[in-house]
Amino acid sequence: MNYIIDRVKLEDAKDLIEYLKIITEESNNLTITSKQVRDLSVKDEELIIDSYNHSPTSIMLVAKLNNEIIGMGNLKGNNLDSPMGHRVSLGVSVRRDYWNKGIGREIIDALLSYAVNNEYIEIVELEVKSDNYAAISLYERFGFEEIGFFENYFKYEDGYGDAILMALQF
Ligand SMILES: CC(C)(COP(=O)(O)OP(=O)(O)OC[C@H]1O[C@@H](n2cnc3c(N)ncnc32)[C@H](O)[C@@H]1OP(=O)(O)O)[C@@H](O)C(=O)NCCC(=O)NCCS
Repeated sequence: MNYIIDRVKLEDAKDLIEYLKIITEESNNLTITSKQVRDLSVKDEELIIDSYNHSPTSIMLVAKLNNEIIGMGNLKGNNLDSPMGHRVSLGVSVRRDYWNKGIGREIIDALLSYAVNNEYIEIVELEVKSDNYAAISLYERFGFEEIGFFENYFKYEDGYGDAILMALQF
C-alpha cells in the first residue's frame, strides 16, 4: 500500500476533523469522543495543529493514502519549564479498514524516532484501556512497560473502563 507518513500541516485541519469523526464512531478505545469532535471547528483544529508544530517536544503525524488521512499519531509534550518537561504522551489511531496492516506500527516507529532524537524527551508515556489488546501488544513490542493500573480511569455513558499506564524510558 502506497501511503505516506508526514508531519501534519495547517491545511490538513478540515480532513483531520473528518478523520476524527470517522474513528470516534469506529472505536471506543480513544480518549476523544464523537461528541467532542462534533464541536470542533476548522479554526480550533488549526490552533491545535499550530501548537504541535511550534512545540519543542510535540509532534503530530498523519498517514495519508491518496491524500486521504487513514491514520494519525502524536506526542504531546509538557512545558519545558515544568518538572514534567522530560515526559511526552503518545497517542495513535488508524481507520478500521486499515487495521493490522502495519500502519500503527510505522506511525509509532516514526514518533519514537522523533523522541529519540529530541534532546529534551526522556520518557514516552501513554494510557491504554486494559482490554485494548492490539494496542497493548503493539506498545510492548516497542519496549513500553506497564507502570501502573488505574481502575475506573475512563467513564462512559454505560460504565467505567480501567487503564494500563505504560512508559518507555530512554
Ligand atoms: C491500536 C491501533 C492503532 C493499531 O493499528 P494497526 O495499524 O492495526 O497496527 P499494526 O497493524 O501495526 O499492528 C497491530 C498488531 O496488533 C496485533 N493484534 C491485533 N489484534 C490483536 C488482539 N486482539 N490481541 C493481540 N494482538 C492483536 C496484530 O497481530 C498486530 O501485530 P503483528 O504485526 O505482530 O501481527 C488500531 O487498532 C486503532 O486505531 N485502534 C483504535 C484506536 C486505539 O485503540 N488507539 C490506541 C489508543 S491507546
